[in-house]
Amino acid sequence: MRFMSATYPEAPDKALMKTLIKNGRVVTAVDDYYGDILIEGQFITLIGKSLDMSADKVIDARDKLVIPGGIDAHTHMDMPFGGTTSADDFRTGTLAAAHGGTTTIIDFAIQPKGTAIMQALETWHKKADGKAAIDYSFHMIVTDLSAAEHLAEMKKLIDHEGVTSFKLFMAYPGVLLVDDATIFRAMSLAGSRGGLICMHAENGVVINEIVARALAEGKTAPKFHALTRPTAAEAEGVNRSIALAEMAGSPVYIVHLSCYDALKKVKEARDAGIPAFAETCPQYLFLDYTDYEKPEFEGAKYVMTPPLREKWNQEELWTGLRMNDLQVVSTDHCPFCFKEQKELGRDDFSKIPNGGPGVENRMSLIFNGGVGQGRISLNRFVELTSTAAAKIFGLFPRKGTIAVGSDADIVIFDPKKKMTISARTHHMNVDYNCYEGMEVTGVAETVLSRGRVVVENGKYTGKAGDGQFLKRSTVTLK
Ligand code: URP
Ligand code: ZN
Ligand code: ZN
Repeated sequence: MRFMSATYPEAPDKALMKTLIKNGRVVTAVDDYYGDILIEGQFITLIGKSLDMSADKVIDARDKLVIPGGIDAHTHMDMPFGGTTSADDFRTGTLAAAHGGTTTIIDFAIQPKGTAIMQALETWHKKADGKAAIDYSFHMIVTDLSAAEHLAEMKKLIDHEGVTSFKLFMAYPGVLLVDDATIFRAMSLAGSRGGLICMHAENGVVINEIVARALAEGKTAPKFHALTRPTAAEAEGVNRSIALAEMAGSPVYIVHLSCYDALKKVKEARDAGIPAFAETCPQYLFLDYTDYEKPEFEGAKYVMTPPLREKWNQEELWTGLRMNDLQVVSTDHCPFCFKEQKELGRDDFSKIPNGGPGVENRMSLIFNGGVGQGRISLNRFVELTSTAAAKIFGLFPRKGTIAVGSDADIVIFDPKKKMTISARTHHMNVDYNCYEGMEVTGVAETVLSRGRVVVENGKYTGKAGDGQFLKRSTVTLK
């Protein structure tokens, strides 16, 4: 990989607030040592074995891990979808993210069909401006490239607006789906300028046929959401995405990969030297098809796309994470309340708004299930939850690591602390938690976002508007 534009800061102003983090075990994607960190203003300015200069604030991180703030590369705040709008906006969603140890999100702006891409960017800036607790950036969901201006707008986003990645949908015909010609055009443009196409890889045309058949047979319960979206539909989408990317001379990043059949396609491509990248999400690592069979309408809580799969897929995904066939764990945080929102599909699973919450729980879940269960190393945990996303999406080394010159986005993480996940205590603006009652070991205790303590011993100390929009660089992925 070649990373452009390192965005290192100016030398720090001597009058800036100084924070010293002492005695912690500093872990990045590649380092693991005991040391102290000096922060001046928003940047890390010095790292040493035993720093004893005066500081405005000293944080004792003894017995704690000191890790880069998490980067969640896939969120949907305040997003109109499925006849309603996702329940977290930029204020509640980023506050919840901060509580969980995530200090950057990359959210998806949407270009409604027939509209200008620049207008969508403006809409998303308005949604986020002055609200965010942590830094944020945007991908752009492109739904329409029919006008000549649309390609010019993509160029403008990459070259001037710091929006260097685009999501395209092979699913949701008539709403978000774009055809192969559009995908090829977008990939050719992105590939030629260091942009990246993120693909929702599911054959939505065939899925719609299967859904129509199921509904005609009176199959309306939430479990039919999963039963009408076979793994073959996802694997076909992944395979086609990679083939189209290869023809366009572009890398491709598969979002929310859920199953072994799809992973196999990514692995085959990578083994052949093709620049294919993919993320998975906690829901595919910890939840499974049987969640749809919960009584009453409770299965609706898990209606997300792709759907939860048979449990055996989970260990295959962990292997993919360990072996770097999957590079990133993001959440696809897209919450809808059980009451009122998921209810929209009580009589028809295809009307249940697709998506689930997770932005607050990702770091603890992956630490607990990954490091705690011996599936991944500590370094790999940091890489999967922060560093790799920073590199792939043009934020590194400003974000994603602990180094002199980087933003002081730092989490003091207690690897021994236990927490029971619950909607009663979470900060996400949604009335359920997919992991209700699960006990995790490993909790973000104190969180710094560009040098400011935004969560201290589990209490929010920041304010809406602390978070800034991040312009991202282009990246050449090989
Ligand atoms: O069900 C999901 N994943 N909802 C959010 C939209 C998407 O496809 O990422
Ligand atoms: Zn998607
Ligand atoms: Zn999504």
